[in-house]
Amino acid sequence: MTRAAAYALIMLFALVLATRIDVAGQQGVSDGARYDPDGRLLYPADYREWVYLTSGLGMTYGPAAQAAGRPPMFDNVFVNRESYRSFLATGRWPERTIFALEIRTGDENVSINNGGRTQGAIRALEVAVKDSSRFPDTTWGYFEFGAPPEIAPAAARLPATASCYACHRNHAAVEQTFVQFYPTLMDVARAKGTVRADYDPARKP
Ligand code: HEC
Repeated sequence: MTRAAAYALIMLFALVLATRIDVAGQQGVSDGARYDPDGRLLYPADYREWVYLTSGLGMTYGPAAQAAGRPPMFDNVFVNRESYRSFLATGRWPERTIFALEIRTGDENVSINNGGRTQGAIRALEVAVKDSSRFPDTTWGYFEFGAPPEIAPAAARLPATASCYACHRNHAAVEQTFVQFYPTLMDVARAKGTVRADYDPARKP
């Protein structure tokens, strides 16, 4: 083989590789959001097998008075596995990343428990999906699925005027996700330099 032919072959190989990487980046993860033929997000039935990120207890972001007197609820956050691995490597969420936030009652005096609270029935399931081709105006789409036994098999994206969008856009530390509350991930984001430049831990809504 002449030197020129060998060079051409190497260039061709590099081009094929670059194209494949580019396509993977655009298509995103293989275990991410799935839709029905009408473009509604399918209920992510296996979210409890994803990576667990955090639990919040009695979190409230509005005026403190609103929360007073209500028993605190737990929330549990999960993300699909491929996106989690990708975040560890890059500090960013790939396309089709899907998060589930499950809200459960905080129960007292269950079984042998005399103090504190344990998790009870599901009250709501909220979902966030990164998909800039489907949601070009907002990049992230937000969804609500009811609680059992009335879980919708699929849900349409909440309108861009829903409160989810503004709060996540204005107060989340990485892209539109609340990585400041996901202890294993905030250090990754700091190390990769992907915490938003305008993230201010002291700012309240
Ligand atoms: C006033 C602010 C605020 C509003 C409004 C809000 N969220 Fe969030 N959201 C949060 C916070 C804070 C967390 C972190 C929860 C934790 O740490 O347990 C969160 C986490 C999430 C997550 C986990 C992934 C992520 O982005 O970090 C999902 C999914 C989610 N919210 C969906 C919704 C949906 C759907 C709505 C609208 C119906 C909504 N949220 C409205 C503040 C908000």
